[in-house]
Amino acid sequence: MSVLKEKKVLLGVTAGIAAYKTAHLVRLLIKAGAQVQVVMTPASKDFITPLTLSTLSKNPVHSTFYDKEEENELWNNHVELGLWADYFLIAPATANTLSKMSNGIVDNLLLATYLSAKCPVFFAPAMDLDMYKHPTTKESFEKLQKFGNLLIPAESGELASGLVGEGRMAEPEAILVFMEAEVASKLPLKGKKILITAGPTYESIDPVRFIGNHSSGKMGFALANVAANLGAEVVLIAGPTSQKIKHSFVQRIDVESAAEMFDVVHEHYKDVDIAIAAAAVADYTPKEVAPQKIKKKEASFHIDLKQTKDILASMGIQKEQQFLVGFALETNDAIANAKSKLLRKKTDMIVLNSLQDKGAGFAGDTNKISIIDSQNNLVEFPLKTKDLVAIDIFTEILKRMDV
Ligand code: CTP
Repeated sequence: MSVLKEKKVLLGVTAGIAAYKTAHLVRLLIKAGAQVQVVMTPASKDFITPLTLSTLSKNPVHSTFYDKEEENELWNNHVELGLWADYFLIAPATANTLSKMSNGIVDNLLLATYLSAKCPVFFAPAMDLDMYKHPTTKESFEKLQKFGNLLIPAESGELASGLVGEGRMAEPEAILVFMEAEVASKLPLKGKKILITAGPTYESIDPVRFIGNHSSGKMGFALANVAANLGAEVVLIAGPTSQKIKHSFVQRIDVESAAEMFDVVHEHYKDVDIAIAAAAVADYTPKEVAPQKIKKKEASFHIDLKQTKDILASMGIQKEQQFLVGFALETNDAIANAKSKLLRKKTDMIVLNSLQDKGAGFAGDTNKISIIDSQNNLVEFPLKTKDLVAIDIFTEILKRMDV
């Protein structure tokens, strides 16, 4: 999944022949999951039509301060456009536009939007080789880079003039890779390793039966997804669940029993920066697993159980650099019990879901949590989807970690 998923990308198109490639560029951005709006300089419409770009971006395209054709001559608010964007990409960026950008000249909507934008700005120059080499162009590049704008270098090759050299706009694929790498490098969990346990465990009674629980695994999977979107490398250790995850930053390891989960967790734990125990691990497991299917005989039947090893508590004992997060599911004295769990299991944070709250718990799509940290702070959240709860949890973790 692309780091540009759900990001708002404003594409600024200026009057260079490479503008014809922006149709493909918009398609790639949309395919990456970005929301795209396009702003064009008036002259760029000679190279590609607004209709093409508005159809592909699924949004109206603006190029003037107001739309003359519209009945009410609607004002195109450049400030709003600039504030809407998470990223502003100017491609192709001509020598003329780059020079104006670097000098604060505002004689069209695109330039006004540039001056209003607060987000990171990328520019992909496109011009003939002598223009590319000209000292004024180099000066524009340097000035813009000093402002913090990001240069996507032009490529060498055959130019529209027939000359061969530097100045050809980077290919749309290369622009996307450049943007994704830049966005990924700024993610708050970039370079961090995270271990997450999720789902139930199944404790075998005999070859066909087990003791399990109703955990769906949704919370742990939502956490893994958010962690990966924040740039972390995630090891997701999952009990039996139908949940699916597709993210190149997530390594999923399926386990069945508490004992198996314990072993796999400890294979990875020492290397991670954050560990989150979201699994509903069985507290007891049959003392013995019958080798054959147990036959129905007596009217009543009992199974001897023994305690499983507490995975979270053992991570607490071995804790070094790890920021350790546990979950607590309580039916009564929720806060007091959660606080004692935090101390007992030596965690940095406990996520409490009280079964007394409607919509909270481990089978549904929503959850209502409170967070308690080792400083005894309590933060309470309203009922939310598990995806949003996962974002809240990472927001609280990041506040408490030196990242
Ligand atoms: N946990 C674990 N290994 C276990 C049992 C629990 O890692 N064998 C973790 C869970 O993943 C969760 C936390 O411990 O993060 C709390 O689980 P919970 O079932 O609420 O607590 P218990 O330790 O079982 O305590 P109690 O049954 O007394 O509530």
